[in-house]
Amino acid sequence: MPKTVGVIGGGLMGAGIAQVFVAAGAEVSVVETGDATAARQRVADGLAKAAERGKLADALDAALTRVSVVDDVSALPPAAELVVEAVPEVPALKVDVLTKAEQVIGEHAVLASNTSSLSIAGLGSALRRPDRFLGLHFFNPVPASGLVEIVTAPGTAAGVIEQARGWVRGLDKTDVVVRDSPGFATSRLGVLLGLEAIRMLEEGVADAEAIDTAMELGYRHPMGPLRSTDLVGLDVRLAIAEYLHATLGDRFAPPQLLRDKVADGQLGRKTGQGFHRWA
Ligand code: NAI
Repeated sequence: MPKTVGVIGGGLMGAGIAQVFVAAGAEVSVVETGDATAARQRVADGLAKAAERGKLADALDAALTRVSVVDDVSALPPAAELVVEAVPEVPALKVDVLTKAEQVIGEHAVLASNTSSLSIAGLGSALRRPDRFLGLHFFNPVPASGLVEIVTAPGTAAGVIEQARGWVRGLDKTDVVVRDSPGFATSRLGVLLGLEAIRMLEEGVADAEAIDTAMELGYRHPMGPLRSTDLVGLDVRLAIAEYLHATLGDRFAPPQLLRDKVADGQLGRKTGQGFHRWA
């Protein structure tokens, strides 16, 4: 496992990614340009929950000493063996933080993006070492999810892929290796199902609870497509759908209801209201 890890973006995903590496024994530095206190709290809360469930190997206090939050990529530890970016799904923003991170870390470090959909080759095209860059797509909530999708660009070195697979196994998760293509294997299928469920709501086929229950009990999905959209965040799903619409065609056109809810601030679980109400 990497001893030192950098995570850029301390939001929903970044905090979860930081938590699982800390729990695995790594020193983790989180770069957060927004509310650093909130980012630190997210990681600390997650670690406290893991400790309560007996899923932390060492004491909570000891684990907390391995987390630091900084406000700029330039403050990443130069010794980081792995840096994962988890900033919003905006290509220019991701390219910016990745190219800056590359200037800080050593030439043998691995750089990764947690993007849900964007081209890994595209994000890595400005890097000096695109061979040491790949997608490490974690799922929400990171500590509870068993999967990491490893996305490889044509230029990703085979040794880097193997190193990443070993780290994923070290986190007690399963990897799937997927070729770089819009939405990879997971978002491409998951988002399509979510968008169709929203179109069904628009057409009045059934209400949200009925659509989700249909898939949960009828198809044995652990979570229906609308509940899953709420969990991911409607804003995050809209950004992914817009990108998949542009790259894969009209079947990914975002429904008006999704746009309206995002404009109205109904972003899902994180705001208390999406397609369902969250207490
Ligand atoms: P989020 O909005 O919760 O977190 C993003 C964080 O990045 C925020 O705290 C923001 O202040 C920070 N940030 C913005 N610019 C920054 C910069 N220049 N340097 C450092 N920090 C910066 O978003 P979320 O949901 O964590 O998504 C992050 C990425 O993970 C996106 O690419 C998304 O597509 C992907 N993803 C999201 C999943 C989800 O279920 N929400 C699941 C899997 C991947």
